[in-house]
Amino acid sequence: MDISKDMTAAPRTIRRDDYTPPPFLIDTVDLVVELFADSAKVVSRMAVRRNPAAVAKPADLVLDGKKMDLLSVSLDGRAAAHEATPETLAIRAVPDRFTLEIATRLRPQDNAELTGLYKSRDIFCTQCEAEGFRRITYFLDRPDVMARYTTRITAEKSLAPVLLSNGNLVERGELDGGRHFAVWEDPFPKPSYLFALVAGPLDCLEDRFTTRSGREVTLRIYVRPGDVPRCDHAMESLKKSMKWDEDVYGLEYDLDTFMIVAIDDFNMGAMENKGLNVFNSKLVLANPETATDLDYHSIEAVIAHEYFHNWTGNRVTCRDWFQLSLKEGLTVLRDQQFSADMGSAADARIDDVRRLRAAQFPEDAGPMAHPVRPDSYIEINNFYTATVYQKGAEVVRMMHTLLGPERFRKGMDLYFQRHDGQAVTCDDFANAMEDASGVDLAQFRLWYAQAGTPDLKVEGRYDAAARRYTMTVDQSLRRTPGQPDKKPMHIPLSVGLLDGAGRDLPLKLAGEAAAGGTTRVLDVRNPRDVFVFEDVPEKPVASLLRGFSAPVKLQAPRSEEELTFLMAHDSDPFARWEAGQQLGARLILDMVAARKAGKPMVVPDLFVDAIRRTLDDQRLDRSFIADAVTLPGLAFLGELMPEIDIEGMWAAQQRVRGVLSQQLADRWSSVYDANHGSGPYRFSPEEVGRRRLRSTALSYLSTDKGEAARRRAVEYFENAKNMTEQVAGLGVLAELGGAEGDAALGAFHERWKGEPLVLDKWFGIQARTPTGDTLQRVKQLVDHPSYDRKNPNRVYSLIGAFASGNPVQFHAGGGAGYRFLADQVLATDRFNPQVAARLLAPLGSWRRYDAGRQTLMKRELARIVAEKGLSRDVFEIASKSLD
Ligand code: PHE
Ligand code: ZN
Repeated sequence: MDISKDMTAAPRTIRRDDYTPPPFLIDTVDLVVELFADSAKVVSRMAVRRNPAAVAKPADLVLDGKKMDLLSVSLDGRAAAHEATPETLAIRAVPDRFTLEIATRLRPQDNAELTGLYKSRDIFCTQCEAEGFRRITYFLDRPDVMARYTTRITAEKSLAPVLLSNGNLVERGELDGGRHFAVWEDPFPKPSYLFALVAGPLDCLEDRFTTRSGREVTLRIYVRPGDVPRCDHAMESLKKSMKWDEDVYGLEYDLDTFMIVAIDDFNMGAMENKGLNVFNSKLVLANPETATDLDYHSIEAVIAHEYFHNWTGNRVTCRDWFQLSLKEGLTVLRDQQFSADMGSAADARIDDVRRLRAAQFPEDAGPMAHPVRPDSYIEINNFYTATVYQKGAEVVRMMHTLLGPERFRKGMDLYFQRHDGQAVTCDDFANAMEDASGVDLAQFRLWYAQAGTPDLKVEGRYDAAARRYTMTVDQSLRRTPGQPDKKPMHIPLSVGLLDGAGRDLPLKLAGEAAAGGTTRVLDVRNPRDVFVFEDVPEKPVASLLRGFSAPVKLQAPRSEEELTFLMAHDSDPFARWEAGQQLGARLILDMVAARKAGKPMVVPDLFVDAIRRTLDDQRLDRSFIADAVTLPGLAFLGELMPEIDIEGMWAAQQRVRGVLSQQLADRWSSVYDANHGSGPYRFSPEEVGRRRLRSTALSYLSTDKGEAARRRAVEYFENAKNMTEQVAGLGVLAELGGAEGDAALGAFHERWKGEPLVLDKWFGIQARTPTGDTLQRVKQLVDHPSYDRKNPNRVYSLIGAFASGNPVQFHAGGGAGYRFLADQVLATDRFNPQVAARLLAPLGSWRRYDAGRQTLMKRELARIVAEKGLSRDVFEIASKSLD
């Protein structure tokens, strides 16, 4: 008999509808944190009172707490009756108002979960979102309990010369025995998830920023000694972000210092702790030798994102974790707007959409599909998802589209005016937008509640006699887990009409007195809506979903000629790019079908011609050209197929690449030669575009794998002047394989084995190589001396890259990839459940594959669920994936 099952109770599901206000409030927290080589002692003194808004009046105060040793509890200075369980501490029969003092002891150096207080190399640091504070001390660890914090840190001076926490430094000094202390005071009440403490040997880059009302802010970026020269780009990004938020939203920084700390061991990208952002070092450190253009871009965007949280997240925070998108969706939209303003708006939008389609659309179509505002969870850490972040940003962007920029800004102003200092809900945000603008968002709110990607079918009919163009729009939304019936959504559909010369026609909808503008946002609200355009002089070509005005899957019966016409002429750059992607996707899917039917795969001349014209178009900038000649990715293509045919998609995509490579060989060569570039590295839109276009050409020139291609790739790699070029060259060589590939990988490792962030790239490139025996190589790399299973960046760059970034190889080999992933998930789950759960996601999409693969993928999920002592994180994903 197996009794172990009875010992592991099924994890509890938390529901949004069960929300009640906290029975107690905590006004102030005085923390004393003493750090030692092998432990930390925390004393927390809290001013607690009953919440007048509470619905119940319990006798006991029940605090959250986990994985600590409880040393003592006192209430108003006297011993207090209390009882601890593994996840709570109950203080018996408390008065209405009291001071509670709790002492705990922790072992940061043994904390491999990287949540709570832990050590990254020799640096002590904290990660409290979402529920990490309860691993530091017992607390009401929920975002609607906001307190003012004072933090006193002590440590041996030689171990931790730098002592940091939130807010302003109010005191520091020496202690006996080689120890010292610092006291930090944060004047702003905040939820516990925004608490942070960092201590260790750190150097810093310092700068200043004067806010527009004249506040002098000291900016500091703390890094490991020696890394200061790699902080300039992060610092520039921070200053740009601070200025931008003032200019665009009128939002100023509110403390005297703003600090960023870079940490090597971090589960996520970065964290917006008040006044003390903690970052994964890959999102801070950059110089041209070690960071790629993409790294530079990500650093700029994430520094901005975390900085913007100071208002959207910190000053106004979330009432409960179901409202996570209140801060994340809004802040992602803000960082997207910032990126659009820093470079090319068109490229930025194309990037947003690519990411949404590659990560969020599959999530919305899979077993973990959830609304932007989820209704339930087992483990909140599993809900830091593309849906909450990326789709959440699309939802706020749609409000921006429906209201227009001025009224949207008014809505933001009203939101801050009403809710500064509060913990609120997504509905509060929508209310502010609605009240400030007068735009009715009642139906629109369904975007927060209904999961799934709506399908939109658009058909147009031209009546020459009546000079009328009629657009019929049908919407539908498939069922998702727990949501069998869906209501029609309010979808902003941005459209234009082009005449035969490719010019925008003025648009006049039936009933309007005069034409107004050449782009119109149609309010789609019903299962079927019909829009009639009048005074249309000729049969137009419709440009649909301009700027990707809604996160939907669009189907429109447009001919290939119409799509190539839009590719050449659409005045909306997103729609122009999109026409090419639609055409490419249609073609590839046709080829997949042909291949399946045993027929030849044919690439029509029309497509080759369209790509040639794009390459020849002198008016387009290089980044856009690179975007436009890049074929749709496998994740996006897979979403368009009823059953994902990996081999088919890959074969078809390779065939198209081959044909483009051959037939446009002269173009790729001249693009490659013309974009050689000279002078020192600059991270400017022009230079980034040039490098991208050149490496795109290189990759087309390498598709035939011939001698000349190999020679060119080797030359490119060996002459690389920066990491962007090195990585591009290495990727091509790794795919070419053979002696050249091995030599390049060897040389790269030799040169960069002392640079963790560069080594991650080395692991990642090998894991993502679609050719050769990649799984075998990945398995060997797990045993490589440079591999570190405890470092999340390393794990994501090897295991994550293979399982999520290399569908061709992950799904090959009769299930060997699935088995490997499951083994890695189980091994990782023993010490870092968050990372384990993130790795697991690709197995959840089993329904999308053929019967054989379904069986194999489910088998691994079942093996995981059956494991004893599984974390809540992995249990939730694995079990829901099997449902
Ligand atoms: N709140 C962080 C952000 O998006 C992400 C994060 C979540 C980091 C949980 C760590 C832990 O800015
Ligand atoms: Zn965020």
